[in-house]
Amino acid sequence: MTTLRTSPLISRETTPLGPSLRSGDHPVLFEIGSPGLWGASLPESDVPTVRREAVVPKELLADVPPPLPEVGELDIVRHYKRLAHRCFSIDGNFYPLGSCTMKYNPRINERVAFMPGFAHVHPYQDDADVQGLLELLYRLRCDLAEIAGLAEVTLQPAAGAHGEMTALMIINAYHQSRGQNRTKVLAPDTAHGTNPASCAICGRQSVSIKAKSDGRVDLDDLRSKVDDDTAALMITNPNTVGIFDEQIADIAEIVHAKGAQLYLDGANMNAILGITRPGDFGVDCMHYNTHKTFSTPHGGGGPGAGPVAVAEHLRPFIPVPQVIRKDDGTYTWSDDRPQSIGKVRSFFGQVGILVRAYTYIRSLGCDGLRDVSEKAVLAANYLAAKLKDRYPTPFPPPHAHEFILVPQFGDSGVTELDLAKRLIDYGIHPPTMSFPIHHCLMIEPTETESLATLDRFVEVMLAIADEVEQNPAVVKSAPHTTPVRRLDEVAASRKPNVRWRAG
Ligand SMILES: Cc1ncc(COP(=O)(O)O)c(C=O)c1O
Repeated sequence: MTTLRTSPLISRETTPLGPSLRSGDHPVLFEIGSPGLWGASLPESDVPTVRREAVVPKELLADVPPPLPEVGELDIVRHYKRLAHRCFSIDGNFYPLGSCTMKYNPRINERVAFMPGFAHVHPYQDDADVQGLLELLYRLRCDLAEIAGLAEVTLQPAAGAHGEMTALMIINAYHQSRGQNRTKVLAPDTAHGTNPASCAICGRQSVSIKAKSDGRVDLDDLRSKVDDDTAALMITNPNTVGIFDEQIADIAEIVHAKGAQLYLDGANMNAILGITRPGDFGVDCMHYNTHKTFSTPHGGGGPGAGPVAVAEHLRPFIPVPQVIRKDDGTYTWSDDRPQSIGKVRSFFGQVGILVRAYTYIRSLGCDGLRDVSEKAVLAANYLAAKLKDRYPTPFPPPHAHEFILVPQFGDSGVTELDLAKRLIDYGIHPPTMSFPIHHCLMIEPTETESLATLDRFVEVMLAIADEVEQNPAVVKSAPHTTPVRRLDEVAASRKPNVRWRAG
């Protein structure tokens, strides 16, 4: 059996604070403080004192100040450092979470986003004060249109799902401008859950299209369902099983023949940057996930950005305001788009995230972006090929930037969940599980991992396959090295208990 080191970054924690705490518990700030300790020294206020009764409504005034933790600066630093060490992050460990593209966020992005001219501006400032920022946003929207092969981009949507909703609103407005109210939106049955949810939010009925056993769209099923009431087909390509559907031009033709629109869920653009362009394969409208494709931060629900690119005929309907370049070479916001769907986000979108995306695109350039996708695809195919004898893939290669495997552990009783938990003991984040098919793991190494990291992942996966044969109990009871062991996942998500009470 292969013996592998577990990650030093994930060690069993001991509490320095004695027996009153359960093993692995981490005291909250209230528990480590002592009356009179301070974590910061604030200068005297130079703002004239106003009696609090003059500004706070009486019913909101408390007789006694709220109890706040009283902790010294060093204890605070240690407290947050300990918590930070418990967090699993791409900066610390390999994170092959399929569908999520957990790629490294280059620090240059952060550096640029923190430049005062970008970070310290206010949305109500005059255009003349923020020309640099406006120029950046204008250039970004042009770059994104170029990468998509489409005519124009709105930067407003604040996430991929928000981009989907915005795009469907644009498509609805387009049909309505032609006197049509089309009610159906088709989506392959492997679609991301946000696709049908966006249809519902836009008051459209989502109709599922079958995928064939090779993961590609079943064209006969598509032909039988697309009709004059179809507003759009929402397709993800490469799709959520990690396959690029080469039938895409035929799909576009079938959809367009009925006057419907082809919408691309562009969340998987990481596989095709600079290799092919959605506009060139028949797409009318698409969204980007900047966190998946352009290395902006990801996790915890945001912050994000989901710019939407549209073909020429959809331009009149995109959100306002739009950043434009005037004839004199200066930049401003324009509301001049009478058929626009209006605003979908306060102010101008997630500007800090957009600055990061622009930095990433510009620091790589055209060749660099193509290289990103080629390496992402190579890494996924390398892993799939190295693992295939012990972990078969239900959809044959070539894979795009991610692939699915379905562990076959015979009558050992070990499940894909056990395998995922055991990976944590080796310092590897579990891949996505049971999406988009049952009992699978979806693995997306991304382009940013070294060959050594990919090889270690292979070693670990093979070592776990050995463990399943020789000592399945160790896999079934994993993880063994984390501050908390196996959680009741249903209770943790349905009845989260995140409140601390004194006592
Ligand atoms: C294929 C696909 N579509 C849509 C989304 C939704 O994007 P967001 O999480 O930014 O709303 C994701 C998210 O990862 C995705 O993978």
